Amino acid sequence: MCGIVGYIGPQQAAPICLSGLKRMEYRGYDSAGLCILQDGTLHIGKKAGKVAEMEREVDVAAMTGTIGIGHTRWATHGVPNDVNAHPHSDASGAIALVHNGIIENYLTIKKKLLHAGYAFVSDTDSEVLAVFIGMLYDQLHDFELAVRTALSEVEGTFGVVVMSAHDPDMLIAARRGSPLLLGVGQNEYVIASDASAVISHTRQVVYLHENEMAIVTRHDGFHTKTIHNEETHSVVEQIEFELDAIEKSGFDHFMLKEIYEQPNTFHDGFRGRLLVDEGNVRLGGLQAVADKLKHARRIIITACGTSWHAGLAGEYIIEQLAKIPVEVEYASEFRYRDPIIYSDDIVIAISQSGETADTLAAIREAKRKGATVIGFVNVVGSTIARETDAGVYLHAGPEIGVASTKAFTSQLCVLTQFALYMGRMRDLDARTGKEIAAGLAALPSLIHRCLEQGPAVQAIALAYAKATNFLYLGRGVNFPAALEGALKLKEISYIHAEGYPAAEMKHGPIALIDENMPVVFIAPKDEIYDKVISNIQEVRARNGTVIAIASEDDTSIDAVADHVIRIPETLPILTPVLASIPLQLLAYYIAVERGCNVDMPRNLAKSVTVE
Ligand code: F6R
Repeated sequence: MCGIVGYIGPQQAAPICLSGLKRMEYRGYDSAGLCILQDGTLHIGKKAGKVAEMEREVDVAAMTGTIGIGHTRWATHGVPNDVNAHPHSDASGAIALVHNGIIENYLTIKKKLLHAGYAFVSDTDSEVLAVFIGMLYDQLHDFELAVRTALSEVEGTFGVVVMSAHDPDMLIAARRGSPLLLGVGQNEYVIASDASAVISHTRQVVYLHENEMAIVTRHDGFHTKTIHNEETHSVVEQIEFELDAIEKSGFDHFMLKEIYEQPNTFHDGFRGRLLVDEGNVRLGGLQAVADKLKHARRIIITACGTSWHAGLAGEYIIEQLAKIPVEVEYASEFRYRDPIIYSDDIVIAISQSGETADTLAAIREAKRKGATVIGFVNVVGSTIARETDAGVYLHAGPEIGVASTKAFTSQLCVLTQFALYMGRMRDLDARTGKEIAAGLAALPSLIHRCLEQGPAVQAIALAYAKATNFLYLGRGVNFPAALEGALKLKEISYIHAEGYPAAEMKHGPIALIDENMPVVFIAPKDEIYDKVISNIQEVRARNGTVIAIASEDDTSIDAVADHVIRIPETLPILTPVLASIPLQLLAYYIAVERGCNVDMPRNLAKSVTVE
């Protein structure tokens, strides 16, 4: 979703805000803008399109001043044009803000403001907030009080940074439902939606809590309070990752870099956790709820998108190893259907960003109904990580490419360990436990071998880059991998793709198959291999093209597939990890061949902080 940034300190604010926007551009890239206080006046430069377009159109070098704010937008209210771009200012032009989130009651507030004679230039909810703060300032003559009063009246979500020409040495930041952190440097502060915009200035950060605001001043430091004016105690934490984790490091795209990072990120997901000799796992983050886990009768996994696909694979893995029923729910549906939740249910939220609004709403609902809620989250300190009762971090490092890749395999890594942990707590024998643990431990080098298939996958991608439809089929635990393969392709190449359980094809999708339909089969040598081969034959009989992801030593599949991508042998429940690698590469190379912007696909944003 939108990325917001603010700077106050001794340096020029515009270049710092601009570089912050570039780092956060994956959060939204419909428009970008800056506001700098220069000679007592707020100067705003903004433009529809990516940050680079704004940089081309706006003379950023001429925007001098040591306090400023910036925004990169993923449009919600109002089309992505220059006028709707942030920052937005109040009627006087003396107060400006950047906003991430949705002001749900903006129409009610707007009506009141229109009635009072205020006018608006944009269609956005955010401008309403700016004008509202401006009106309150005119009445109260107190910047902080005006912001606080406005924020306590708005409904919805906000990460917001507000500046005022009346108070030239102060920035006010506040959050509800949208992430926001304050980087604390040497007499300077950088406020941002995520740590990537802060790390080149400082590693010391304060994560703002729900309904918390930070009043940041040039000479007197900062203090935090709730928007209801209760003082809060802020804890300064340390950003853990290194700067090169958020740079492309010689790769053409973040997505490709992240695909190639997977031998390491997968390893980081089990490092210090996996006890191969004992056939068990040590998950320190679940210690506090170990008793609840032991006595749980059901697990509900809730997530969105790619994380939901990982959850679906988790259902197969957990049920197989721990023999406990698992339900997998789209977070966006779960929350609104008054779900039946028992107090001995374990609800697992899976999220890369830890900020997905639907997932957050789902866990709040589960908590309200008394379940124990745990999180498998990548971003340290994120809202879901903080609001869950316990959890396990993915340790995949920052994921910048909008299409999730390494986070998916890390989610599978953590889910498998969780299944093993739950299984060993229950009836899973040590011998099977050791087999699973050894299988996991071997995966980084096997992922590496899958990556060596890159050129072969690229050749197939070139051959099918002009296709208009794709089918992805898999069975058992590879069905979620098929769904994920299809999602990767559609989101970055804009080719329509569907994932199906292979055997379901004959119940409908088979009607789509003709010589123009490439069908990707995940067909490892497992106990349902023969059934999948039958499904492949059904496609061939209708002139469909078969691209098979097959086991390394499977030579017989060459007779039935047009193309074969080999993956090394592993335990059946671990196959989705290996199958995902060529599927990610296939989507990547097809998208590149089609000239698509793989790191910033149209209409998408990295973390979806609106419902
Ligand atoms: C797809 C993708 C999305 C996310 C989804 C959930 O590549 O990235 O489908 O998986 O928006 O996001 P998180 O995992 O951050 O909760």
